[in-house]
Amino acid sequence: MSLLLFLKDVLINPMQVGAIAPSGPDLARVIVDTAQIEVGHTIVELGAGSGSFTREIVNRHPDNRLFAFEISLRLGDELTKRFPSANVVVAPVEDLPKVAPAIGLRQIDRIVSGLPWALWSDERQSAIFDALLPFLAPNARFVTFHYVHSRALGRVRGTRRLLQERFAHVTNSEPVWSNLPPAYVHIAENPRSQTQAFAESR
Ligand SMILES: C[S@@+](CC[C@H](N)C(=O)[O-])C[C@H]1O[C@@H](n2cnc3c(N)ncnc32)[C@H](O)[C@@H]1O
Repeated sequence: MSLLLFLKDVLINPMQVGAIAPSGPDLARVIVDTAQIEVGHTIVELGAGSGSFTREIVNRHPDNRLFAFEISLRLGDELTKRFPSANVVVAPVEDLPKVAPAIGLRQIDRIVSGLPWALWSDERQSAIFDALLPFLAPNARFVTFHYVHSRALGRVRGTRRLLQERFAHVTNSEPVWSNLPPAYVHIAENPRSQTQAFAESR
């Protein structure tokens, strides 16, 4: 994609984009490796933006169904042109339950996220996780990244706790030092049912 287009969105919507540069190929590789995508899996990408993860998914798993959500109309249009085999959905991920019937999305096996969690309140993050949870397959995986510096700034604990409330197993990758800025991946597996998650968080 045009780097300029991405940077324009960074300038206009810094709290929405939450990055100074598109994710690099090494982070994209680790994200897709850790998602452990298998034949027949339905994948949802959250905040596809620059298409760094979209490209890696489409290249390595061309036969899987991919729904790539992106809130920015400009970036969404560009993604639609670049990845005709993906279902690019230009909408906030919060709207997934509303749009799911129209796009034929019933169950999600893998979620790959590029959303800037560290910029958002726990309430906003919870609302997004809870909108997605009812769609997850029992053996679903959710992978997302944080920048190493946001861990030092204490911005990661909240997201990790919210993931642990909703998934039975949460781990993380080694840092990807070659990314700008360096980042690491959270891997959440085995979603708890909403009732179970609520009961255990009390
Ligand atoms: C940090 S960028 C990541 C872009 C790309 N995945 C990457 O790693 O280079 C975050 C992206 O999420 C998008 N975004 C932010 N909030 C969103 C929301 N509620 N729904 C869908 N996309 C959103 C932004 O427009 C931006 O493109």
